[in-house]
Amino acid sequence: MLARSCVRQASSVGAVARQSLNRPATRAFTNSSGTAEASSVWRNAMTGGAATVLAVGSIAWYYHMFGHSVHAMTPAEEGLHPTKYPWEHVKFYKTYDAAALRRGFQVYREVCASCHSLSRIPYRTLVGTLMTVDEAKALAEENEYDTEPNDQGDIEQRPGKLSDYLPSPYKNDEAARAANNGALPPDLSLIVKARHGGCDYIFSLLTGYPEEPPAGANVQEGLNFNPYFPGTGIAMARVLYDGLVEYEDETPATTSQMAKDIVEFLNWAAEPEADERKKMGWKVLAATGVLFALSVWVKRYKWTPIKTRKLFYNPPAIAQKDIATRLSELKANTRQ
Ligand code: HEC
Repeated sequence: MLARSCVRQASSVGAVARQSLNRPATRAFTNSSGTAEASSVWRNAMTGGAATVLAVGSIAWYYHMFGHSVHAMTPAEEGLHPTKYPWEHVKFYKTYDAAALRRGFQVYREVCASCHSLSRIPYRTLVGTLMTVDEAKALAEENEYDTEPNDQGDIEQRPGKLSDYLPSPYKNDEAARAANNGALPPDLSLIVKARHGGCDYIFSLLTGYPEEPPAGANVQEGLNFNPYFPGTGIAMARVLYDGLVEYEDETPATTSQMAKDIVEFLNWAAEPEADERKKMGWKVLAATGVLFALSVWVKRYKWTPIKTRKLFYNPPAIAQKDIATRLSELKANTRQ
């Protein structure tokens, strides 16, 4: 559309040019021809120039008004952008690594669980992905849960079952704050989805504590310097150190290995359906792929007779004969 209207405009410009070329020939006898020519050239140049100035000016004005991205916070307040890591489990043709999930859960239980809850994860979800039924049952029974009130209205304690949720380290948020210098350790069930940068951010956060804050950094009393945390001062100290846990599959427990495992585990906690979703995606692609191929074939099949036919026009022989006789009749009449 745009191209067509441009072409039309260009041809009308051409027509104007042709007219002005013709003008001297047709109006040569008038006195004013020379000045009229000069003023029209000048007017054309002025119009072109003004249009250009207007266009460039409005682009410059628009860029001045809206061209710069606006940040509510300085980069230091937003935190350093985490590095992008090539997470295997995120790829659309890969699944979670069950062994890594198991290691990650071990890191959670041995390191993070003393401060962070994982309150949306029931023991039953661990079965089949991270451990066997017996292992999960044994784990649940390590903790005590409230029973329903009995006939006297008393609530008693019973060992955990598969349907129970992982216990929280603190009774409530106030107790959690009180134990952590006023900062609340967030629940980790959905943390991968809840933070900008997801896996990359949490990995960078856990492995990003420098030995000492850089010169000139202003770290508040009771906070720790971490460039990836918005504001750079985080209440959580560095928690992962080489060899902190002992993996049962003898994977060397380096800081980055543990961080990678816990991040993959937390991703599983936030999106346990990811593997299932990818599998469903492949099924959908396969089915729609076949259906698409089929529909292309059917379309061609149905249209073949129409697309390959050839049309002829054979004028009816009788009609021609009629015309010939009528003509000869006419001729005969005029001769009389
Ligand atoms: C000693 C207690 C403690 C331990 C152990 C601990 N954390 Fe924390 N964590 C905190 C506190 C307190 C905060 C809140 C920090 C703040 O708001 O300044 C926090 C915050 C976080 C955050 C959120 C950061 C944000 O962007 O808000 C993540 C993610 C996190 N911890 C992950 C972990 C993981 C993973 C582990 C185990 C490897 C762990 N933490 C172990 C106390 C702890």
